[in-house]
Amino acid sequence: MLPSFLSNEERELTGSFIDYLMIKAKTHFVCQTCGYQTPKWLGKCPGCQEWNTFVEERVVEEKVSERDFLGIETGTAPIPITEVISEERSRISVGIGEFDRVLGGGMVLGSVVLVGGDPGIGKSTLLLQVMDRLASKGMRVLYISGEESIQQTKMRADRLHISSKDLLVVSETSLEKILQDIQTLRPNAVVVDSIQTIYCSELPSTPGSISQVREASSRLLYLAKHLSIPIFLIGHVTKEGFIAGPKVLEHMVDTVLYFEGEANHAFRILRAVKNRYGSTNEIGVFEMKDSGLTEVLNPSEFFLSERTRRASGSVVVPCIGGSRPILVELQALVVSSNFGLPRRTAQGMDVNRLSLIIAVMEKRLGIRLSNHDIYLNVAGGIRIEEPGADLGAMASITSSFKDRMVDPETVVFGEVGLGGEIRGVSQSENRLREAERLGFKRALMPKQNFGKMHRIKGMERVGVETVQEAIDLLFKM
Ligand code: TYD
Ligand code: MG
Repeated sequence: MLPSFLSNEERELTGSFIDYLMIKAKTHFVCQTCGYQTPKWLGKCPGCQEWNTFVEERVVEEKVSERDFLGIETGTAPIPITEVISEERSRISVGIGEFDRVLGGGMVLGSVVLVGGDPGIGKSTLLLQVMDRLASKGMRVLYISGEESIQQTKMRADRLHISSKDLLVVSETSLEKILQDIQTLRPNAVVVDSIQTIYCSELPSTPGSISQVREASSRLLYLAKHLSIPIFLIGHVTKEGFIAGPKVLEHMVDTVLYFEGEANHAFRILRAVKNRYGSTNEIGVFEMKDSGLTEVLNPSEFFLSERTRRASGSVVVPCIGGSRPILVELQALVVSSNFGLPRRTAQGMDVNRLSLIIAVMEKRLGIRLSNHDIYLNVAGGIRIEEPGADLGAMASITSSFKDRMVDPETVVFGEVGLGGEIRGVSQSENRLREAERLGFKRALMPKQNFGKMHRIKGMERVGVETVQEAIDLLFKM
């Protein structure tokens, strides 16, 4: 409605100006987290329930023709399934065992792998090393940096002692130019560092916005499949711990890897959170050195290297990281709390799991913890996502609470049920074997597992059925 004090002529002019504006600015609002689109601004996204994620973006006409999409003629005819080359055959080892392991046994031709992680964690270093290994096997690989100049990439390469002629580098942010480069060079593998810097000139939004990230990834994805080239996309994790435009990007790509670690520690862990071509339990362990990342082939030794053998609250737990057992040290600190609400913090373990364990301790062991702060830490920065560590966590909290040491030659594992029962866990034999290899003498473990495993020479098994039994036995050792 236009104000009534305007003359007819003014009304007409103003009205048509408003019309003009409406036609000109054809915009919509796009959620930067999940890509939900709406004509009006909204505070909360109906798609992902996040707040304040909408950004106004200009509407662009969708291009449907494939010719326009890549600028090339494409199209394949349907073929009998028997003639499809199985993907297992087209896997290529990247030459770094820990990286291959996380990918599920090497990279798959035509797959797109997103590698996410905090800035400075070592993503560029890792991918440059991977590309170097591939190049030294005689493959032609292309490293596209949108963040650094080729001189900067060269400096990094010098530090890593990389000097392969088949490793091509380019500093580029234009999507069109990148697609062109890949099509003309036809490399055996490509790295795009980082997807957030890539800019498609057809879109009005800024680099890093969800439209740009989506456009760049979808075109690269298409090209990867079309030319059977594996493409690695590097993505930054935002403050909330997500790759910008997380859902959109994660749904599109074949594999999502996270590169994690603590800034003040040298170890780095590569984890798969999505993998169309392998398991998501597998982890790869690396150490950042002066001349780049090196593989850690014995993670258990590595994670136990700083172990505090003679302190209360410290318990060693054999966990399963994908297909292999890894020994980790759990540390608990229980102190009386000064304020009404006791603190519970867990590093490397789900804090809800910790609450559950504490609740079971209160109810089934009669240990009153409601006026104690509890800190639980998995040493070495590794994350434990399996219930096998429950009993270890309980043992370490009890040990700190009682201020009594747990026998340093004993490992502890088992799942804790709400009724205070100890449940069996998978791969108990592998866990024991790893503990034995590292010089442990005894395992406090679920009795249920005894039937499903062989004895291991040099390892005493102490089977338990309830948490009460476990704690009683543990502090008699
Ligand atoms: P970088 O790969 O640039 O991280 P990202 O790409 O994830 O942002 O790694 C940067 C950090 O790694 C920097 O703090 C220096 C360190 N670094 C080493 O310790 N050794 C090395 O050989 C290299 C290349 C980097
Ligand atoms: Mg980088």
